[in-house]
Amino acid sequence: MSDDHSVPVGIDTTVPHPARVYDYVLGGKNNYAVDREYADRLVAQIPDYPPLARANRLFLSRAVDFMARSGIRQFIDLGTGIPTPPNVHEIARGIDPAARVVYVDNDPIVSVHNDALLATDDRVVSIRADLRDAGDILALAELNELIDFDEPVGVLFVSVLQFFPGPEEPARIVGLFRERMAAGSHLAISQPSAEGDPEAIARARAAMAGGPLTIDFRRHEEILPFFDGFDLVEPGLVDVTRWRPRMDAPSTRMIVLGGVGRMSA
Ligand SMILES: C[S@@+](CC[C@H](N)C(=O)[O-])C[C@H]1O[C@@H](n2cnc3c(N)ncnc32)[C@H](O)[C@@H]1O
Repeated sequence: MSDDHSVPVGIDTTVPHPARVYDYVLGGKNNYAVDREYADRLVAQIPDYPPLARANRLFLSRAVDFMARSGIRQFIDLGTGIPTPPNVHEIARGIDPAARVVYVDNDPIVSVHNDALLATDDRVVSIRADLRDAGDILALAELNELIDFDEPVGVLFVSVLQFFPGPEEPARIVGLFRERMAAGSHLAISQPSAEGDPEAIARARAAMAGGPLTIDFRRHEEILPFFDGFDLVEPGLVDVTRWRPRMDAPSTRMIVLGGVGRMSA
């Protein structure tokens, strides 16, 4: 986003925001100088960040495609990010044009772009809310009018649980959604792994510490409990570049782990 254009109400251009930094790293235009400068500094320390972001985004595409082909017709995308084609509703509608999607993100810029993109579509809703308030989100009329929890739903926590430190808070948030999900529902989770090259991870941790992208890198066994109540589909919780890949990915020193679980009856 060119900084000379007027800035939408509620958007703070004085501090970098995770959604805008991620957008810039993915090659998007919906970011400001403060985000680009911060991202450039991070990428200098973490050269794997752009390929990992792209690999994560491709995982999201394949996971949604898999769910839609498995019969899922309604989705909740938590920690949506700034629209980056193909978005969840576009992928799902490649399988069924009637697919319904609720997007949730706490960053005001995501709402600005989603509202503009989706204003004419009554089967897609964008909600600005903090996932820490998952109980309130699940009670919202706009969510319950679009999502029928008596039917299977695809719930996506793609590259977002790392923003909640420690084991309890992400487990609590995922658990609140799990309680509402019917048998046959699917859950996708990805997040940066604490595995991979130790020197690269130590550098990344140091570069991110105290900033807007302070995150919790997690090990495989720390992410697995978030899938409690779900059976992981093949190939399990793996480097996202190895989750049902369609093309070769560049090799990186760090990895993002991701998987999809199915709730059995
Ligand atoms: C790295 S981006 C991931 C975007 C998208 N899910 C993807 O994987 O391509 C993380 C997103 O999570 C959002 N986010 C971070 N903390 C959040 C919170 N507490 N509640 C809601 N959204 C949050 C950020 O605003 C950002 O858009």
